[in-house]
Amino acid sequence: MTAACITGFGGADDIRTGPLPRPVPGPGEALVRVEAVAANHVDTFVRSGAYATEVPFPFVIGRDLVGTVESPAEAPAGTFAPGDRVWCNSLGHDGRQGSFAQYAAVPVDRLYPLPAGVDPVAAVSVLHTAGTAHLGLFREARLRAGETVLVEGAGGGVGSAVVQLATAAGARVIAVDRAENAEWCRGCGADQVLDRADPEVHAAVRRLAPDGVDVLWDCSGWHDLETTIPLLARGGRVVLMAGLRARAVLPVGAVYTRDISLHGFVISNASVADLADAAGTINRELASGRLRGRIRVRLPLTEAARAHRLLEGRAGGPGGPGRIVLIP
Ligand SMILES: NC(=O)c1ccc[n+]([C@@H]2O[C@H](COP(=O)([O-])OP(=O)(O)OC[C@H]3O[C@@H](n4cnc5c(N)ncnc54)[C@H](OP(=O)(O)O)[C@@H]3O)[C@@H](O)[C@H]2O)c1
Repeated sequence: MTAACITGFGGADDIRTGPLPRPVPGPGEALVRVEAVAANHVDTFVRSGAYATEVPFPFVIGRDLVGTVESPAEAPAGTFAPGDRVWCNSLGHDGRQGSFAQYAAVPVDRLYPLPAGVDPVAAVSVLHTAGTAHLGLFREARLRAGETVLVEGAGGGVGSAVVQLATAAGARVIAVDRAENAEWCRGCGADQVLDRADPEVHAAVRRLAPDGVDVLWDCSGWHDLETTIPLLARGGRVVLMAGLRARAVLPVGAVYTRDISLHGFVISNASVADLADAAGTINRELASGRLRGRIRVRLPLTEAARAHRLLEGRAGGPGGPGRIVLIP
């Protein structure tokens, strides 16, 4: 089969696409014929070694896939049948091989059915982002209907999913992003959309939520916490999940005197049970048509190195928002 792999940590140019033996599924694994994969920022961190995780070399890169079951696992019996459309968003780290290949051996407890009628390319564009959004909103921030969520970087992949899942849960969302993303953010369900270039953007948040926002989620990794923590209501929750090398100034008194909590997490650490919980939400929202992502470009799998260069902003070609989807 064809696969995109690395033989050691390195740059995008070290990704080689070529023949590898088709994986032989072990106990509890199904062999999946891959139909679409997506490139996520974390893939570049795993590839370079910036995100520490166990990686067996030669290592097939990539985390997400949508595909079709070729041969199901022997146990647990009856979970999946050959021909079933399935998806996974937790390959390619923690000792597991990745998804950027024609075939992948996937533990069945990390495999979920794709709802009928959902397009594989559309689905793969939201698996990582919506899984992250679910964990941050519900496991970490314990979002309740009627609360207000401030999302910075709302037009990006995770940001869009946060807006969509929060509004589906009955929350009010204030979205901050580039002016050109305003229409998209409104389409995701944001109640108010603010231009991040407006120097008065945080004063506008204060006017829109005079009692404070309940959840602050900055997807940009920028973290101007001195400015944004005072925008939180008492009991507010800050979700921290981006900005690997960010150094922020924390206004400590404003945190503890108002019962504010900081919730850092990576989806990479999520348990199988947490991921299954997120998958339930993702499948419900995919089936309803409410969960949508943007696709920047579709590439053949042979252009995996280019996909990483694009993600790292080191390649000419399609810029703009949306996922880079690759087709084996
Ligand atoms: N902890 C986890 O489990 C987890 C999971 C998924 C993703 N992540 C991280 O979350 C971040 C977002 O991921 P994503 O997939 O949503 O990426 P994305 O689709 O590229 O979106 C990033 C968003 O942040 C904005 N942004 C970037 N730099 C900015 C800055 N300096 N000021 C203001 N806005 C800025 C981008 O706007 P532009 O239009 O200007 O680019 C875009 O709207 C990444 O750092 C990723 O590594 C973490």
